[in-house]
Amino acid sequence: MHKLPELTYAYNALEPHIDARTMEIHHGKHHAAYVANLNKALENEPDLKDMDLASLMKHLSVASEANRNAIRNNGGGVINHNFFWTILGPGKGGKPAGELLAAIEKEFGSFEKFQEKFENAAMTRFGSGWAWLCVPKGGGLAISSTPNQDTPFSDDGVTPILTIDVWEHAYYLNYQNRRADYAKSFWNVVNWDEVAKLFKAAKK
Ligand SMILES: [Fe+2]
Repeated sequence: MHKLPELTYAYNALEPHIDARTMEIHHGKHHAAYVANLNKALENEPDLKDMDLASLMKHLSVASEANRNAIRNNGGGVINHNFFWTILGPGKGGKPAGELLAAIEKEFGSFEKFQEKFENAAMTRFGSGWAWLCVPKGGGLAISSTPNQDTPFSDDGVTPILTIDVWEHAYYLNYQNRRADYAKSFWNVVNWDEVAKLFKAAKK
């Protein structure tokens, strides 16, 4: 059975950038529903119940056709949100340092240019989805986006290290239709220490 992970910070800890009510509904309702619906879909897949979620997302074809879509959508919803909460934190933001900053500057020219490209990926993802910074198979860094709850965790050899949820449920209460303002504000709550840790592990 998959479980809703507890947050390591309070719902109001990311204010004013992400408000408490949004966090409460996002984690307590949306994320919780993905967990419940994933478990429901897995009820009919006894062989997959104990499979690690990242492996399951990489091998969706092992699920029966009847459940595959539900597992793809809800499993993606679970793994994406599990990850999202870990790269956020109160009193964070600022800039990365060390090797990660050097890699960003090498790939994108500057940290500011990287931010611009990442925000652009968030803005141009039509409808619901996610923007990502990943370490691709061959190393380096790459910005991408996915629709709905599709996830780079499904791609072999790709390591996601940063993401922004651009579903309206992530920002609508506070920002209404202003996704761009939300994406700009997001930088204030990025936990670069965690991103750096993931980057380091991905390079090994
Ligand atoms: Fe979300």
